[in-house]
Amino acid sequence: MTQALIPALTVVVPTYNERANIRPMVERLSAALDGLAWEAVFVDDDSPDGTAREVRAVAREVPQVRLHHRIGRRGLAGACIEGILSSVAPIVAVIDADLQHDETLLPRMYQALRADSELQLVIGSRNVEDGSAGGGLSAVRKWGSDRANALARRLLKISATDPMSGFFMVRRTAFNEVVLDLQKQGFKILADMLSASAGRWKVLELPYTFRERQAGESKLDSAVTIEFLGLLIARLTGGLLPIRFILFLMVGLSGVVVQLAVVRLVMALAAAPFGVAQPFGVLVAMTTNYVLNNALTWRDRQLRGMAFFRGLLSFYAVCALGAIANVGIADSVYAVLPNWVLASIAGAVMGALWNFWASLIVTWRAR
Ligand code: GDD
Ligand code: MN
Repeated sequence: MTQALIPALTVVVPTYNERANIRPMVERLSAALDGLAWEAVFVDDDSPDGTAREVRAVAREVPQVRLHHRIGRRGLAGACIEGILSSVAPIVAVIDADLQHDETLLPRMYQALRADSELQLVIGSRNVEDGSAGGGLSAVRKWGSDRANALARRLLKISATDPMSGFFMVRRTAFNEVVLDLQKQGFKILADMLSASAGRWKVLELPYTFRERQAGESKLDSAVTIEFLGLLIARLTGGLLPIRFILFLMVGLSGVVVQLAVVRLVMALAAAPFGVAQPFGVLVAMTTNYVLNNALTWRDRQLRGMAFFRGLLSFYAVCALGAIANVGIADSVYAVLPNWVLASIAGAVMGALWNFWASLIVTWRAR
């Protein structure tokens, strides 16, 4: 009796607005995993559609179902990591809640890991022979997905063919080896794990056909693509720079371009003197930086409604102090080492660090 209650396999199911998919998903898991000691952990980020309530209701009927309810947090990778960490099973899987992944593959993935103790990871793959993206992806997404795939495999030195898959099963001991290295922000936990394992793991890919989504909608948008670029850079810098700081820097660079363009435009169109055009350019750049950081860098803490405008004002204040820090540091460096390029770069680095840190604890503080 007790034996049957201890899970040998935990299936982690990340959810965001998937209420209508919960029951069908649990039915399919129950059918596919019949005879195994399994459990499913739904990790929900407090979905506004009431997914967590639905999971709780189902969990009172099906003992294998658990809910891990996160509040004030968003993000697929982080949700998967927490779900895995919440499990005591020696083998864990991650599968999407929207029925797009083929759950009938789970028993075969499990048997493969049981049969070969050298094997650390099994990937449900769309790119090996017989696997296919089916009708699950639009032509544009398929193209983008293929490009990102090729880039990731080259840059991160990954040999698996479908590192973007959100469908995999891993040995818990192997996961524990890399968990401290993983980025919690972003969508692509498998690519990150493969990169962190640095080719040490024996990996098996099993083909399946990616199904079309029936209920609800995809959360993968252009921000996910940019986040993924952040992940690549984070990996290439050996994890020195977290994804968030990389995104912040990318936004900052876009701000430089915006500022130059606005100054140029204002001088040309309004025939304004530089002394007027420059502060105007700075103001516009701070504003676009704020909007982009809110949509991208701090997507998981996005400010909306009135909070959006309060945040904008606090961001102006943060940036103003950042500018003072920038000039102060540049002056001090120049006094010791009169090289204007070096002094100016030192000022910019200081300004960027200040803006990042201060906007983190003031503008986008965790609530
Ligand atoms: N907890 C939580 N928090 N879950 C999330 C979040 C989040 O912020 N964002 C998405 N999810 C859940 C969704 O509810 C779904 O169960 C799963 O993660 C995948 O999200 P989708 O929005 O359906 O992604 P997709 O279908 O476009 O892409 C999926 O399939 C691809 C192919 O395997 C993802 O798994 C991709 O990573 C994968 O490349
Ligand atoms: Mn999906």
